[in-house]
Amino acid sequence: MHTATDDLAALHARYVLTPWVPQAGRTSPTIVRGEGCRLYDDRGQSYLDFSAGLVAVNLGHGHAGVADAIGAQARRLAYAAPSLNHDVRAELAHAIAAIAPWGPEGCRIFFTTGGGEANEDAIKFARALTGRHKVLAGYRSFHGSAPGAGTLTGENRRWPNEPGIPGVVHFFTPFPYRSPFFTRDPAEECARALAHVEDVLTYEGRDRVAALLIEPIVGSNGVVLYPEGYLAGLREICSRHGILLIFDEVMTGFGRTGAAFAAQRFGVTPDLFTFAKAVTSAYVPLGGVAVREELAAHFDSHPLPSGHTFSGHPLAMAAGLAALRAYASEGLFERANRVGEWLRARFDALARAHPMLGEVRGSGAFFGLELVADRETRAPLVAWQGAANLNALVADLLRRGLYVYARYNVIIVAPPLTISPEEIDHAGAILDDAFTAYRKEHA
Ligand SMILES: Cc1ncc(COP(=O)(O)O)c(C=O)c1O
Repeated sequence: MHTATDDLAALHARYVLTPWVPQAGRTSPTIVRGEGCRLYDDRGQSYLDFSAGLVAVNLGHGHAGVADAIGAQARRLAYAAPSLNHDVRAELAHAIAAIAPWGPEGCRIFFTTGGGEANEDAIKFARALTGRHKVLAGYRSFHGSAPGAGTLTGENRRWPNEPGIPGVVHFFTPFPYRSPFFTRDPAEECARALAHVEDVLTYEGRDRVAALLIEPIVGSNGVVLYPEGYLAGLREICSRHGILLIFDEVMTGFGRTGAAFAAQRFGVTPDLFTFAKAVTSAYVPLGGVAVREELAAHFDSHPLPSGHTFSGHPLAMAAGLAALRAYASEGLFERANRVGEWLRARFDALARAHPMLGEVRGSGAFFGLELVADRETRAPLVAWQGAANLNALVADLLRRGLYVYARYNVIIVAPPLTISPEEIDHAGAILDDAFTAYRKEHA
């Protein structure tokens, strides 16, 4: 059945509730097809997907290997209760363990349907493992939106969950470009931020804290890279106080930073990490928690305190296995570093032309473009968590054929790891034109 273009928009407006935005007046295109780095709408217009959806489609769209694996799995076994073993679940857990930071025998995997659920399960495991209750998480963070994960989230998408689940305490994390610790010196930023965590622990009671949960690179809150030594410092603090360190690798996992996980990229090993998004290159919803083997062994003699109907869903397992095989055979984790070099060169040129580009920061193929009203004072183009946003600029980019994921004054650039230098140049040219038009309009 094919519905006419205008009718589709009307059906959407009438029946679909779209996340996070007021429902009236939306003008998003209706996407009907994806291929490589491009999305196509029902009017035939194409868009370069410069953020891999929500930092997820690391393989690009329309990957035949993954699509075929999902189809074949659907015909062979579409579902089995999670209490039953099944072949692809064992194989995917093994394949993830093989690239995890503890070495091939070093962890076990619990599967969920997404990243937020994985974070909720991770803290539940940490509470069971330590017998402690509190969890520390950064203010400048997003860990999911359901009530548990939404309480772990530090920014304003937490607010609809309030009062939220008990025991979650937020702290300030370093942000060298906009220091919450009143310094422009990264080493000082790191030292002060670690001292702040120690202070928070003093007041919360070190032996009451089960876990510290952190995105190793802040994702949707601006692609913030921590100063050298910060993650290692957290590792040391957690080890000293018997607190489990959990990395939320939902955005950073599966090659985004140029390594399998950010843990390897930064040489800091957590006790647990969570993943989702690119594990299947977003072809089927899947998330999970990787638990260091010594901790996982606890559950040999204690019941695992969690379960979901779709834990280890065969279609997701098949998609994950096919995605991991494609990442390896196409060398995409390493390629992320080359993509990053092309992106940086293009963005450096953009920054020379556009003073509104305050900072370009990134790692691997994961970049934030921070837009400012004044490069000297670093005044943001729109305030973080303020009433204004850059929706008009993002809509203009879309009209020009470029999809980006942006929040407040930061454009998040995280294309499929398959993107070509020509596509990056093309995206750069669109950004160039849109920034020029924005400046003229706001002169
Ligand atoms: C770092 C991080 N953690 C968790 C989540 C939540 O994942 P999901 O939307 O799959 O629940 C997200 C989603 O964007 C994320 O960026």
